[in-house]
Amino acid sequence: MNAQTVYLNGQYLPLEEARVPVLDRGFIFGDGVYEVVPIYAGVPFRWRHHLARLKRSLAKIAITNPHDDAGWDHIISELFGRHPWPNQFVYIQVTRGVAKRDHAFPVGVSPTVFAMASELVLPPDSVRSTGIAIITAPDERWLHCDIKSTSLLGNVLARQKAVEAGAAECVMLRDGFLTEGSASNLWVVRNGTLLGSPRDHLVLEGIRYRLLEELAELCEIPFELRRIAREELFSADELLLTSATKEVLPVTSINAQAVGTGKPGPVWAKLYGAYRQATGRGATAGS
Ligand code: PDD
Repeated sequence: MNAQTVYLNGQYLPLEEARVPVLDRGFIFGDGVYEVVPIYAGVPFRWRHHLARLKRSLAKIAITNPHDDAGWDHIISELFGRHPWPNQFVYIQVTRGVAKRDHAFPVGVSPTVFAMASELVLPPDSVRSTGIAIITAPDERWLHCDIKSTSLLGNVLARQKAVEAGAAECVMLRDGFLTEGSASNLWVVRNGTLLGSPRDHLVLEGIRYRLLEELAELCEIPFELRRIAREELFSADELLLTSATKEVLPVTSINAQAVGTGKPGPVWAKLYGAYRQATGRGATAGS
């Protein structure tokens, strides 16, 4: 197996050799943004959407986009080509760069650009057949959750609560309404309709927002984005979780209480089949 090769500021080098100065503002302030892009059999999935979100995140914190689209395309395909795994995900991080410690933006500094490919290990069939457990916690993050920022302390603390409770994810509530998971979006099925939180500053709009909307249309499942009250989570027929690396997973327990029948539901099954097909696989596991 080849050693893992990463991209750092124009160079491809072994992971162990990649070094960033300690004054990098990503290290000092968490002053940067990132992306996570899944690649199936060599084809980056929804790459144009991920790239557009990366550009939006950069613009929102006033970091100049360090590459044109062709430059980003090249990094992604080069990293994929250097590793043997058929399915991979590429992590991209751009920070404001290296400068003397001062909160204000430094002048004349180039961004630090880092990217690495890892094997995309999808959740096993056993997890999909039983579903996952989640817990809820207050959303204690800042008010720009729409930026895919590397400042993830609130998300890290939330995920740790899930780990300590033996759950797979912690879903956050702000003022009694659902926002999202620590590293995922959460979807609620009520009376056959798929509900998600509004696209606003309180959630990261996952690339799976648009995708699920499209797949729901394909499967003739009504789709609606609106504020979702805490009680609606606990009385949902189904709960679903999405992210680049988890795809779409059924949630069968919330705060140790069964969701619906306590088994993965029909809306999840339809959307998961459609998701598999969208990624170039058969509609059912094993196909
Ligand atoms: N996280 N919300 C948050 C806070 C996230 O961190 C993520 C993804 C999502 C889902 O977005 P998408 O569908 O584009 O993956 C929603 C990535 C996978 C991570 O941090 O590793």
